[in-house]
Amino acid sequence: MTAGTTRTSTAGDRPQPTELLELATDLALRAGAAVAGMRSGVVSSAATKSSPTDPVTEADRAAESAIVAGIAEARPDDAIVGEEGTDRAGSSGVVWYVDPIDGTVNYLYGIPAYAVSIAVGLGRSMVAGVVLNPATDELFAASVGAGATRNGLPISVSDRTDLAAALVATGFGYQADRRRAQADVLSALLPTIRDIRRFGSAALDLCAVASGQVDAYYEAGLNVWDYAAGWLIAAEAGATCDDGRGGPPSERFLVAAGPGIHHQLGERLRDVDADRVTD
Ligand code: IPD
Ligand code: CA
Repeated sequence: MTAGTTRTSTAGDRPQPTELLELATDLALRAGAAVAGMRSGVVSSAATKSSPTDPVTEADRAAESAIVAGIAEARPDDAIVGEEGTDRAGSSGVVWYVDPIDGTVNYLYGIPAYAVSIAVGLGRSMVAGVVLNPATDELFAASVGAGATRNGLPISVSDRTDLAAALVATGFGYQADRRRAQADVLSALLPTIRDIRRFGSAALDLCAVASGQVDAYYEAGLNVWDYAAGWLIAAEAGATCDDGRGGPPSERFLVAAGPGIHHQLGERLRDVDADRVTD
């Protein structure tokens, strides 16, 4: 199926997760090719958003526009929420969560760790998700109940059971107060684990959990488009994902880890109030 030429539903349909994943994958591949192509020219920050260190490039905007146009053409009754400002109401109950470039700072600097991330939910319940790193040609995908894949091959989380030996990814927000609080959490956690990784893309962090490249990931203050697709991919790969207190992952806090260490990590993070609200 080709996005942009095939209308896949009308209001009231209950689409199959695999059908949604197919459309999401097609759109991500097209956007990824465009984004990678724009990287070969001069890349500069077109504007900043939540703080002077939170950039947006022309590629972010162009990719979001193309993805939104593709969804709207194929599924005109679906809602769409996107990082670069898309907030489109729908009537089908299906919601698309679009992060056109997650890891924009990496993209700006030419560090090959950025991703097109597209999730599809029935409301907040994710049923399909794709994360494409166009710099490495890694395509992570999942649909609910069908497991997770990297470039078509099944992936699964690590079987680590000892938090002291765990490699843990995390990320930091763009606001100074939030970063101060996140640095405090990090300095309490770091001496008690194997090490920390800060890749710079929440979507890829979650895929790293999904494929066992790290044992766990946590972050406070994400937006839903940052984590929606990666959450489903990690969960389908066997990760336990929550808000650190047993609820679903939220903008406030997200912890994703193999089942062997999730409880220990959640407890450790609660001890240091890692989910406290700072702004
Ligand atoms: C950011 C990345 C980063 C995370 C930030 C996000 P952006 O998204 O996912 O890893 O630490 O919290 O805002 O700005 O690159 O799309
Ligand atoms: Ca993002």
